[in-house]
Amino acid sequence: MGKLDGRVALITGGARGMGAAHARLMVEEGATVVITDVLDDEGAALAEEIGAVYHRLDVTDEDAWASVVSSVHAEQGAISILINNAGVVGFSPIATATTEEWNRVIGINLTGTFFGMRAVIESMSSAGDGVIINISSTAGIQGYSNLSAYVASKWGVRGLTKSAALDLGHRGIRVVSIHPGPIRTPMTDGFGDEMTQSQPIARFGESEEVAKLALFLAADATYSTGTEFIIDGGATVGQALQPPQE
Ligand SMILES: NC(=O)c1ccc[n+]([C@@H]2O[C@H](COP(=O)([O-])OP(=O)(O)OC[C@H]3O[C@@H](n4cnc5c(N)ncnc54)[C@H](O)[C@@H]3O)[C@@H](O)[C@H]2O)c1
Repeated sequence: MGKLDGRVALITGGARGMGAAHARLMVEEGATVVITDVLDDEGAALAEEIGAVYHRLDVTDEDAWASVVSSVHAEQGAISILINNAGVVGFSPIATATTEEWNRVIGINLTGTFFGMRAVIESMSSAGDGVIINISSTAGIQGYSNLSAYVASKWGVRGLTKSAALDLGHRGIRVVSIHPGPIRTPMTDGFGDEMTQSQPIARFGESEEVAKLALFLAADATYSTGTEFIIDGGATVGQALQPPQE
């Protein structure tokens, strides 16, 4: 028996990286998984490989949200797990950051998460219980240089999670945020290992490690809502002032 038997899970940005790992593990645990993305070839191929369903869904498109949720509700059943995972990163110093880049990052990472939560509420309420897992970042816990829009978007996701948890508790819907540190995915291609060397766990994390946390939050964390779950190798615990003295 799987931990998610009978449940329908919709994952945004599920064609690759962490989203693909969530999809694989949730299928293994018995869920009906709906992968959504804007990378149609990769998304459809992954769905075919693991026995999931693929829909194109640009998370910034409100109409697409309405149509995908309505079709999944009719064909697969009430959605009881939503992972708002789609995201983009863009580096630029605040002095030269463009309005266009600001709007792109906020639009996908933050507004897309809001659209997703709002779109599934009725379907999730009819499922009887549900969980929304919003993928923030350690950039939603602390600041980073040259990443102002990304950091703002991920702090926004963290705050939105808390407000939504308050609004949706009476419907039996839990809302939580995951805050990964550096994880090896296409997003971090080219990021060097040196950026992890001051962490207590001095390596990049793997997508599968984050997927196990999301599975725990969906299946077992039945008394947790509105709160943060950090998975970062200790990147945000503090600053090591000296090397280990032994
Ligand atoms: N990799 C890391 O180190 C790291 C750390 C912290 C948080 N995150 C967050 O984790 C999430 C997943 O990132 P990842 O590392 O797997 O990156 P990734 O680039 O491998 O995957 C992101 C996915 O989102 C999709 N996407 C982008 N724009 C979209 C849109 N408008 N609509 C729908 N889908 C869209 C992409 O096509 C891609 O499949 C993101 O929210 C990211 O910000 C990543």
